[in-house]
Amino acid sequence: MKILGIETSCDETGAAIIEGKKGGNFVDLISNSLATSLVLHSKTGGIIPEIAAREQVKFIIPVIKEALGETGVEDIDAIAVTVGPGLIGSLLVGVETAKTLSYIYKKPIIPVNHLFGHIYANFIRENPKSEVLNLKLKDVEFPAIALIVSGGHTDLVLMKNYNDYKWLGGTRDDAAGEAFDKTGRLLNLSYPAGPLIEKLASSSQKDIYHFPKPLIDSSDYDFSFSGLKTAVHREIQKVNIADKEIISNICFSLQNAIFDVLTTKTLKAAKEYKVKSILLGGGVSANSELRKRFESVISNQQSTIKFFVPEKKLSTDNAAMIAAAAFFNQKEEPWQNVTANPELYFD
Ligand code: KG4
Ligand code: ZN
Repeated sequence: MKILGIETSCDETGAAIIEGKKGGNFVDLISNSLATSLVLHSKTGGIIPEIAAREQVKFIIPVIKEALGETGVEDIDAIAVTVGPGLIGSLLVGVETAKTLSYIYKKPIIPVNHLFGHIYANFIRENPKSEVLNLKLKDVEFPAIALIVSGGHTDLVLMKNYNDYKWLGGTRDDAAGEAFDKTGRLLNLSYPAGPLIEKLASSSQKDIYHFPKPLIDSSDYDFSFSGLKTAVHREIQKVNIADKEIISNICFSLQNAIFDVLTTKTLKAAKEYKVKSILLGGGVSANSELRKRFESVISNQQSTIKFFVPEKKLSTDNAAMIAAAAFFNQKEEPWQNVTANPELYFD
């Protein structure tokens, strides 16, 4: 089955084709095309929704054309599209394009929750010919815990099987990526600040500031990063932000606090639910230090839990993950029933 995925929930415009076999436990990536308006937002410290949507109107057809390549729409079995959560103007560009294609080519639509997309990025086999590189993709075992860490979300989800989820907890205020981006704004870094903070933090090795680790020992699976951001703000006001060493140390301590909370709570859930796999997804999971931390806490506990994280370009927003989520959750809908829902979350 070949699925054309379309993703326009935030500033990215993505289209991709994946192919999966019935009953298979992964999908192959055929093409993955992405355009972004980030450069237009980098100086403003965040996305300007109207600018993002206007750019997506320009990008959507060329991006779909590029993803299709030699493949005709006739050869596609279904169209997957992100219906939420996200910015309404941006979502509408993808949803209305998908509906138009569906109407003209008589292809069913599979509406996809963007958050599930981040989870299913872990089920994409990038290079079908490389058995070695892709070995681990073949054996995601259930039950699994998925941690979604993006610009808008921090959620822990128990996956009992494909299509069988239980939401365990999420952020009460700022998401993990938001803590990176808001700190970046305080440090005059361009948006999105995550990759820059990772780079700055890598030249420090010490946790000097000992920022708070909110809810790290709470009995639930909730997160809260807004107090951390306030603590970082207070420290930034006291120092010279032109001093690179000081800034690197602040970035290191910020990452350390966020990553300690993320790994501790995920491992706690993994133990409670006796899971066999941990899956990471969302933009923050592109961070190499976070990946290493998960690998080391799992191995330090001499646990047999398998750890999965997508290729970096599949951690941040893309359309391949939307097509992958659609493959494993095939609820096809006629175009008339598909609507954008900016507030979509877990049921
Ligand atoms: O998943 P994503 O691309 O978009 C949303 O669905 O929100 O995530 C974007 C977020 C931004 O907050 C960005 O700063 C963060 O992911 N991010 C990172 C890194 N790369 C992107 N955070 C930390 N380290 C990174 N390397
Ligand atoms: Zn996302």
